[in-house]
Amino acid sequence: MSLQIKHSMLAPQFKDQSREQLISILASSTQTSKAKNTSTKIYWNESFYGLSKSKIYTDLPEDKKHEILYQLNQKGLCLSYFIEKYGLNYGAKMVLSSETVEEKSLYTVFGADEVRHRLLLEPFIQMQIPDNIEFHPLLPLLALTLEEANKEATTFVIQVVLEGFGIYHYANLRDACQSEELKNAYTEILKDEVNHHGMGVCLTANKQMTTETKQQITELTSKFVRALIKTEWTQQSVEAAYGGFSVKQKQDFLKEISWQEQMQLRVERLKALMKKVGFAGLVDDLEAKGVFQIN
Ligand SMILES: [Fe+2]
Ligand SMILES: [Fe+2]
Repeated sequence: MSLQIKHSMLAPQFKDQSREQLISILASSTQTSKAKNTSTKIYWNESFYGLSKSKIYTDLPEDKKHEILYQLNQKGLCLSYFIEKYGLNYGAKMVLSSETVEEKSLYTVFGADEVRHRLLLEPFIQMQIPDNIEFHPLLPLLALTLEEANKEATTFVIQVVLEGFGIYHYANLRDACQSEELKNAYTEILKDEVNHHGMGVCLTANKQMTTETKQQITELTSKFVRALIKTEWTQQSVEAAYGGFSVKQKQDFLKEISWQEQMQLRVERLKALMKKVGFAGLVDDLEAKGVFQIN
């Protein structure tokens, strides 16, 4: 029997009367409560998105400002939901493609960790979860990596680069979060993500890699860096509430929220992660190809 590797981000719900029972067993096994949070609370405020410095934003009516923050909060949570759900088949692929008992064991625990992360975040998601993965440019790339890349390239791209970046991103989310419960959820998640990243670093640092692996790493990392620089949710949400931007207004807005500086910081983080495992050559390659260019 041959298994087809497919991502699990759109895995459907179990459709049977026994679903509730399965959910209870899952909550008990993962020690997560299934309490549903129903308030339309704002978890991250203007300053988190750089919006408090924007006159275009602060001049908007209160209800529009609230809607922008609510949408940005919820979209961010949905993005995490998809990434954590991706961990199901990621763990499975890596268990099956590992040979050693240590790696198989670690990837089994890895999968369970990602399940717990998703369950910890789910109570805070109030918007309808999108039914396609195109809603953020990172998600189709996650699918591509899982379905096409070999084990070594997958480990580097997902665990070293993305989970390394994820630690920085989740720590920012935790530190700026207005809800104690959600803050605690991120603290729990971060403990595991440090292990997932550490494991990726351990498995790839200064390792000899085949030409094919190097090619896959260069190609996928380039795409991920571009996707991380291309995120435009903040600008799109404010632009929609404002009723459209002229070219000049868009430039002014990006300047107001220090978009260039935010992206520069992101790029520096990504470069540091690649260098950490002895991949300075990769940074040079991507630099030469203009992958880190912000504009
Ligand atoms: Fe996770
Ligand atoms: Fe993880």
